Amino acid sequence: MISRRTALAGLLGGGASLASAGILSNRYTQQWVFGSPAFAAGPKPLAIPKPLTGEIREGVRTYDLGLQRGTSRFFDGVNTPTLGINGTYLGPTLKMRAGESVRMNVTNKTGQASTLHWHGLHLPARADGGPHQIIRDGETWSPQFTVKQRASMFWYHSHMVPHTGPQVYQGLAGLIYVDDEETSRLDLPSEYGVDDIPLVLQDRAFNDDGSFFYSTSMPNMMMGMRGNVLLVNGTNRPYFQARTNKLRLRLLNGSNARFYTLGFNDGRTFQQIGTDGGLLERPHETSQITLGPAERAQIIVDLSDGQPVRLRSFPTPDGGMMGGGMMGRGMMGGMMNDNLTFEVLNIRPDAQRAKSPAVPERLITLSRPDPSQAIGTRRFVMQMGMGGMMMGGGVFAINGKTMDMNRIDETVRIGTTEIWQVDNASMMSHPFHVHDVQFRILDRNGVAPTPGETGLKDTVVISPRESVRLLLSFSDYADPDRPYMYHCHILEHEDAGMMGQFAVTA
Ligand code: C2O
Ligand code: CU
Ligand code: CU
Repeated sequence: MISRRTALAGLLGGGASLASAGILSNRYTQQWVFGSPAFAAGPKPLAIPKPLTGEIREGVRTYDLGLQRGTSRFFDGVNTPTLGINGTYLGPTLKMRAGESVRMNVTNKTGQASTLHWHGLHLPARADGGPHQIIRDGETWSPQFTVKQRASMFWYHSHMVPHTGPQVYQGLAGLIYVDDEETSRLDLPSEYGVDDIPLVLQDRAFNDDGSFFYSTSMPNMMMGMRGNVLLVNGTNRPYFQARTNKLRLRLLNGSNARFYTLGFNDGRTFQQIGTDGGLLERPHETSQITLGPAERAQIIVDLSDGQPVRLRSFPTPDGGMMGGGMMGRGMMGGMMNDNLTFEVLNIRPDAQRAKSPAVPERLITLSRPDPSQAIGTRRFVMQMGMGGMMMGGGVFAINGKTMDMNRIDETVRIGTTEIWQVDNASMMSHPFHVHDVQFRILDRNGVAPTPGETGLKDTVVISPRESVRLLLSFSDYADPDRPYMYHCHILEHEDAGMMGQFAVTA
């Protein structure tokens, strides 16, 4: 494993100054995309997105959200034009409880059409905030729905086809915390911003004038837009002062395309307690966890030794153009650049720390995924035209089709359970995401999922030549005319058409 320092020295020569500005060594962006501006950035306390509980109006928990333009500082004295929700970059953490009804008043003040999608939530298609629920500049969109979720961390983001990539990149995203009875009874760290810490991981690239660099040139479309600066909750080079012996970290890969393999610099193990859509049945002890774009995980790290520790991203063995394919190494492997080691969060335990309870051995009860309940198997093949790239035209498709807003690709019956078999016919990994439902993973190439993937999921990484079987139940909200989406969550692939639509019918 190559250390960050070595990587910098090897790839950039004068790496020290870049390291102090939080610049990841990134040969791909260096050579292919842009010149790396030499901005300085000192370490900063980790920003915690403001919690927003909304207001109860006529029995409905109501949130007022404004999509707006702003200016953010990711480097000392450098201004970056950004987008945010009720702020300059990203948005507040919406806190809600399972079972209550909520209403969102989303006002768009960005000067461009947008949408706001509630990623991971089970709700009617008309409230989903997908590409059909466009909010024009100056308009307000007010969906209402019941929170039918297990407790977990979800998120919201622009889904404005074909500008989801640039809008999310500029900051149109935020978190949702859903709480429920079952989880509140557990003795888990749950003081928001104190021992329950959300971490939104996003890599960004910058122009010399401080603005974000975003490009849809062919390499960026193919690999997805990657940057050489890591922002965590919008903070460059963040540290966190821990006041407790345990921290619950809620991780979101909020990046457009980068995969992260997260672990600690001293190799310490941690307990994974949750996946995208809820808790695991029991904690899973591990030392590394890989997250593709849009995937989430909850982990608990023990700081009782009082030692400073760094959350790091390590090379992702299968984070894209890999899997032993003929282009797994060399040019394409280098372009992927998920083969770097870099800092994510510097954790500094206080000398005086509050004691934390032991992690419960049992968390929640999940039903056993039972494939015999399925009425059939539906197959999805993710395709990317490599030949097309070489000739200057990329092809991004599922089942040979590029996204068409006017075509409903699949129709499922309400009240049924199905197996979706997702095959990856391309040479890089794709995070496959399904709206409306939380699903379970049955197997990967016939092999049962690892303990960390046994929980509720809405996004699953499909490696090259892999075939993954999912079990999904469509229990509510028939609407033959309004579809939900399924797509690759590498936002540049999604924008280029690696997306399809399904409707739930009565
Ligand atoms: Cu996170 Cu279709 O989206
Ligand atoms: Cu979604
Ligand atoms: Cu993809």
